[in-house]
Amino acid sequence: MSENTEVVLADRPQGHLEPGHFRVQDAGMPVAGAGEVLLRILWLSVDPANRAWMSPVPTYVAPVKPGDVFPGFGLGEVVASNAAGFAPGDLVEGVTGWRRFAALPARGLRRLKRREPVTQHLSVLGITGKTAWFGLEEIGRPKRAETVVVSAAAGAVGSIAGQLAKIAGARVIGIAGGEAKCRHVVEDLGFDAAIDYKAESVGEGLKRHGVKGVDVYFDNVGGPMLESVLFRMANFGRIVCCGNVSQYDTATPAPGPRGVPGLLVVKRIRMEGFIVLDYEARYDEAEEALAGHVAAGRLKYVEDVLEGIDRAPEGLIRVLAGGNTGKTMIKVA
Ligand SMILES: NC(=O)c1ccc[n+]([C@@H]2O[C@H](COP(=O)([O-])OP(=O)(O)OC[C@H]3O[C@@H](n4cnc5c(N)ncnc54)[C@H](OP(=O)(O)O)[C@@H]3O)[C@@H](O)[C@H]2O)c1
Repeated sequence: MSENTEVVLADRPQGHLEPGHFRVQDAGMPVAGAGEVLLRILWLSVDPANRAWMSPVPTYVAPVKPGDVFPGFGLGEVVASNAAGFAPGDLVEGVTGWRRFAALPARGLRRLKRREPVTQHLSVLGITGKTAWFGLEEIGRPKRAETVVVSAAAGAVGSIAGQLAKIAGARVIGIAGGEAKCRHVVEDLGFDAAIDYKAESVGEGLKRHGVKGVDVYFDNVGGPMLESVLFRMANFGRIVCCGNVSQYDTATPAPGPRGVPGLLVVKRIRMEGFIVLDYEARYDEAEEALAGHVAAGRLKYVEDVLEGIDRAPEGLIRVLAGGNTGKTMIKVA
């Protein structure tokens, strides 16, 4: 094995992402310059938004170009440090890139208070858990006895968002693809009900579960599913626009939902997007709250692990196709 391995975007996908859009290649061992640390990357996060970053249209990050090491998020251990405040053995998170070793400016990294197992820093306490937490705290704000609907409910963010809404005392209905995922969110995670969108329409499912109006919709999916729930919102409902996974892996994204702005006005609905990175100054607060729920046995999490950096492309393709339950991550070292 060479000293280092990296996964590079070989080609921009036009439609569905395929393994051939990536190249796994040998690389030299990087050396930390002034203000930098040398990291051994331990775990990589696989995020649906990685696919959106491959589009030439800028998102909240610059578009990834063919030839770039894929700029994914990860957890690493400091091997050598030329930066104040970072020492060998420190556990850090940040945009490590999909590689085994990286020399990175310390100012882009966050030192972590290590908790075991460390994978929690990518799943329930990481970007995943914090996205669910800030989306609900800041936008959804579920109240006792309200009805909360969560899409991609068996996935990383959705599974945590639904359980947090239950902790807040809401009635929670998940939407997921397939009978096994629906059973999982109800029986293992404690959601009140689930709708298998592959077996029935979301509208029929909400009716079958007696939903008169949705108070909070935690939307991970966008597309036609967003429109279905929008038409069933209660007065003063809140739509948390967390993500748009149904539209990332296609060359022909669906148009936005009907009902905007008419229904928003008539029903006084608040529909708001957010990016978790904007809350970095409050990450410790969210982590403490989430860790407290985990320790008390109120919050469960599932991790979907693939071993080996060369499997990162496969992991992303699998998440986009709904092959995962819980948080998908790559074990690098
Ligand atoms: N705003 C932020 O700061 C932020 C941060 C992190 C993540 N996110 C967003 O949160 C969402 C969930 O991310 P995650 O990491 O937790 O991924 P995830 O839910 O673990 O995986 C994605 C899931 O999306 C579902 N899906 C895929 N295509 C679909 C379609 N056409 N219709 C309905 N469902 C579909 C699949 O589940 P099924 O089998 O149920 O279809 C799949 O398992 C994504 O939109 C992501 O971009 C936002």
